[in-house]
Amino acid sequence: MANIVIIGTQWGDEGKGKVVDLLAEHADIVVRFQGGNNAGHTMVVEGEQFISHLVPSGILQNKTCVIGNGLVVDPEVLIEELDYLNGKGIDVGPGKIKISERAHLIMPYHKAVDHAREAKKGDKKIGTTGRGIGPAYEDKATRRGVRFVDLLDRSVFTDRVRTILDEKNFYLTNYLAAESLEPDPIIEQYQQYAERLAPHVTNASITIFEAVKSGRQVLFEGAQGTHLDIDHGTYPYVTSSSTVAGNACSGAGVGPKEITGVIGIVKAYTTRVGHGPFPSELFDETGDAIQAKGAEFGATTGRRRRCGWLDTVLIRNAVRLNGLTGLAITKLDVLDELESLQICTGYEYKGKQLNDFPASLGLLAECRPVYETLPGWSEDISAVRKFENLPENTINYIKKIKKLVETPIDIISVGPGRDETIVLRNPFV
Ligand code: GDP
Ligand code: IMO
Ligand code: MG
Repeated sequence: MANIVIIGTQWGDEGKGKVVDLLAEHADIVVRFQGGNNAGHTMVVEGEQFISHLVPSGILQNKTCVIGNGLVVDPEVLIEELDYLNGKGIDVGPGKIKISERAHLIMPYHKAVDHAREAKKGDKKIGTTGRGIGPAYEDKATRRGVRFVDLLDRSVFTDRVRTILDEKNFYLTNYLAAESLEPDPIIEQYQQYAERLAPHVTNASITIFEAVKSGRQVLFEGAQGTHLDIDHGTYPYVTSSSTVAGNACSGAGVGPKEITGVIGIVKAYTTRVGHGPFPSELFDETGDAIQAKGAEFGATTGRRRRCGWLDTVLIRNAVRLNGLTGLAITKLDVLDELESLQICTGYEYKGKQLNDFPASLGLLAECRPVYETLPGWSEDISAVRKFENLPENTINYIKKIKKLVETPIDIISVGPGRDETIVLRNPFV
């Protein structure tokens, strides 16, 4: 029996959706435990692409999908996704999609604050996805949030919205110079969402607990990545939730003894979308070539992703912070045409080698990445399905990563499709 957590090791968009969709075959339940529709997880099955923002990436494998208590949920986006999937003939009824009654709602004022704050910050903006994520988590922490269980009680919900909107409108108009919002249309709109989503709302912790007790297997799907974590990431250029594996427990309502493995998804190079430090970033034609071949545009906002070499300082940090038991290396095929590759093995700071990721952004800005150069393989590897059939230089690149980060490599992805994968060790069997 195995219960596996999947998390991103870098700054998100590592290919978590693809790996979750692949491994979901062996799971009974797939659970999202943090974040919201800032996530964009891509699955490609039989040539058809689906980008999920809220529904767990186990849905195309027809698994029970749980939206855990740790999420902030925009109900409009969730309903859109359910309608889309339903239109494709996929079962998204209450038996399949469960929403924790304790998950928080993203409200229109969260989105308004997110946009207006970023606009006011100008050059210093974080480059958020504008989905209201930070303001929703902020209200959760200051105990002014609205949970699904509150949405389902009309009088509690009405009272909560009226009270909070009074304060939000003052802040929006007087400090952020934005428009104020009327409570009544919000209350009416959200009552419609309540009617639609009520059959899905449940105590999801119990759903997962009962499943585990009866020997069923659970896959926990992380969003964002380790270096966007609110505690461990490049603060303040981070998201507002805990993205590391430990939060799978808190954000789903399960105890740590149930987790049997943690797979870290590692893109074969590095990308970042939005602002913030990125030591191995490329500003030349190699960076442009990776961006173009990897189709590196945000799955949520469509923004061009910044690209750079693989940084093993990040991956070692992720190994420790998440207790990784294995890695999945994705998008290796994107490097096919490069004559040589660089891997960042450490940072040089004031003439000394720094092996660990610093907390201070000032210090990080003074770090210079130290690279090792490896030969490329100049060959199309997208049709390879066996490790031993990969070109020698590809194998050397993989072995070098394994050695630098001291973690087994379980999965290698050579294309976006579910089947474009080499599985060396399946964490579920
Ligand atoms: P996630 O947020 O971690 O789920 O990743 P995204 O879906 O935002 O971004 C990953 C992108 O890379 C998507 O467009 C995937 O379809 C694509 N992808 C995933 N694995 C591979 C791979 O091995 N090779 C290629 N070429 N594309 C991949
Ligand atoms: P997935 O799950 C990449 C980034 C944003 C911004 C910062 C804060 O698809 O890997 P937020 O809207 O969360 O307040 O924005 O975090 N960000 C992501 N970058 N992938 C994601 O999700 C991201 N979710 C948020 O670009 O820099
Ligand atoms: Mg993504």
